[in-house]
Amino acid sequence: MQIEEIKDQICDVCHKMWQLGWVAANDGNVSVRLEDGTFLATPTGMSKSFITPDKLLRIDAKGNVLEGAEGLRPSSEIKMHLRVYQENPSVMGVVHAHPVYATSFAIAGIPLDESILSEAMLQIGAIGVAHYAEPGTYDVPDSIAPFCKDYAAVLMSNHGALAWGTSLDEAYTRMEVLENYAHISYVV
Ligand code: 13P
Repeated sequence: MQIEEIKDQICDVCHKMWQLGWVAANDGNVSVRLEDGTFLATPTGMSKSFITPDKLLRIDAKGNVLEGAEGLRPSSEIKMHLRVYQENPSVMGVVHAHPVYATSFAIAGIPLDESILSEAMLQIGAIGVAHYAEPGTYDVPDSIAPFCKDYAAVLMSNHGALAWGTSLDEAYTRMEVLENYAHISYVV
């Protein structure tokens, strides 16, 4: 896939997340691993409804900015994204959002690990809860690291949810399944 196409895909995911109400204000962030080992990431402090291809930043594995519009910095949670890629080499896309039902389970500290919905179990399996970590700190990557290899996503205590996949499309879809699974679990 050409880089311009990948940028359009990231924008599409950002806009969908905002339309679905998963990311109020400037919440949420998205990244993709490129074939050359660099990454594209959303900028910090911007509504996902306003993300356009020119606002995305290309960064290296340490989070240094390689390309980006003047005045924009990568997401404050880029350390968390980079940790997912580091822990699981098959991951090519990462999505972080605060969907209402998944985040409510994260706040309550309740894992989504009951086999009540066959499709969710098949698509994402059991989802655990990472311990609380202050947003933007190095404690956040440490808290999600144990889940990156063997799970499809994780609930982040008092914060939100994180999903990853072998493509951005898969990461996004997993977040959608997770939120739906959380919603149905709540109604049940
Ligand atoms: P950024 O704007 O820095 O990406 O942060 C949003 C967020 O959701 C923090 O958890």
